[in-house]
Amino acid sequence: MAFHLVSGGCGFVGKNMVRRLYNTTDDKILFVDNLMVGKHPTTWLDAPKVAQYKDLEIYGEDRRLFFLKDDFRFLVRKMTDDPDYLKNHYGLDVEQFHDVYHFAAIVGGRAMIDGDPMVVALDLSIDAEFFYWVCKHKPVRTLYPSSSAAYPINLQTESGAIALKESDIDFNNMGQPDMTYGWSKLTGEFLAKIAAKHYGVSVTCIRPFSGYGEEQDLTYPIPAIAMRVAKKESPMEVWGTGKQGRDFVHIDDVIDCIHVAMDKISDGTAINIGMGRLTSFLEIIDVLTDIAGYKPPIKQLLDKPVGVHSRYCDMTYVNEELGWKAKITMEEGMRRMYNAQLAKLEKES
Ligand SMILES: NC(=O)c1ccc[n+]([C@@H]2O[C@H](COP(=O)([O-])OP(=O)(O)OC[C@H]3O[C@@H](n4cnc5c(N)ncnc54)[C@H](O)[C@@H]3O)[C@@H](O)[C@H]2O)c1
Repeated sequence: MAFHLVSGGCGFVGKNMVRRLYNTTDDKILFVDNLMVGKHPTTWLDAPKVAQYKDLEIYGEDRRLFFLKDDFRFLVRKMTDDPDYLKNHYGLDVEQFHDVYHFAAIVGGRAMIDGDPMVVALDLSIDAEFFYWVCKHKPVRTLYPSSSAAYPINLQTESGAIALKESDIDFNNMGQPDMTYGWSKLTGEFLAKIAAKHYGVSVTCIRPFSGYGEEQDLTYPIPAIAMRVAKKESPMEVWGTGKQGRDFVHIDDVIDCIHVAMDKISDGTAINIGMGRLTSFLEIIDVLTDIAGYKPPIKQLLDKPVGVHSRYCDMTYVNEELGWKAKITMEEGMRRMYNAQLAKLEKES
């Protein structure tokens, strides 16, 4: 039976991956999160907690899910120093992890990326410890999530925006990524390539554009706007002019694409994950208010941080070389988001 590891396993992408692995395989999954942002599994996991050994929590009647609340840097350091740490300390028999998904990171949305860039820079230390361990442990497959923020910002201006192609990041001819977040993701990609080339590690990098989903925190724009629409707020507030745009992609599609990519890429190559479509925040509001059946006036909050003007991707490589395309349309995704926020409001009242 394969054993997988998910870091940041209680965050937005991490918990979706934990659930997917648990529901679609018979494998064991160890997930780790310091709960700095993520929520404890008892608040979102369907499987019940069935046991605890030291600080290791065990979930599911079939005892396949293992949770550790820890700083991932400390855990990988312990596993690096003692390759049998999990066995010696917790009795977990893991000679080699099959898939390792590394989602532990300080992310936090635009307010954090612009507002506290030095805390985001701690991602460099998380990734450095991670890759140091990966090069020793050599899991069967490793997933490193980079980001669309790694792309040069001069290609994302109002007048000069293009659909970003994978080749627009060229380590031999670099542009400037988006703040410390973009720099740390770019550095992570570089480490991934080093791990593959110099240490024989199988690693896949992804550059998700703007992932969204029903359980995403309200500090992110799509759930925040969907909640305001569900409350039928009027006027409808938007950060900046609302004309700035992103490439929104539903989390279910992101998880699907990760697995397609891991089956086909092992040399650290990075691929885009998006719809290949630029959508402004005003268009998002339009779709959501159509669903809700009202049309409020727009109130622009011009003092809020908005980041680059237009960020979207060219999905040609992924469509043609990997044979993958997003399935969930923007309209379907927004309907799910709206219904999820309505359900939250109903639960609260
Ligand atoms: N969500 C997206 O659309 C998107 C887009 C591009 C890239 N990514 C990347 O995917 C990864 C996951 O993103 P997310 O949206 O799930 O973010 P998130 O903030 O929801 O999840 C990150 C999780 O990591 C945990 N964490 C942070 N530091 C930790 C540490 N030192 N030890 C253990 N756990 C720690 C947090 O508590 C949180 O639960 C990140 O690397 C992010 O850069 C996500």
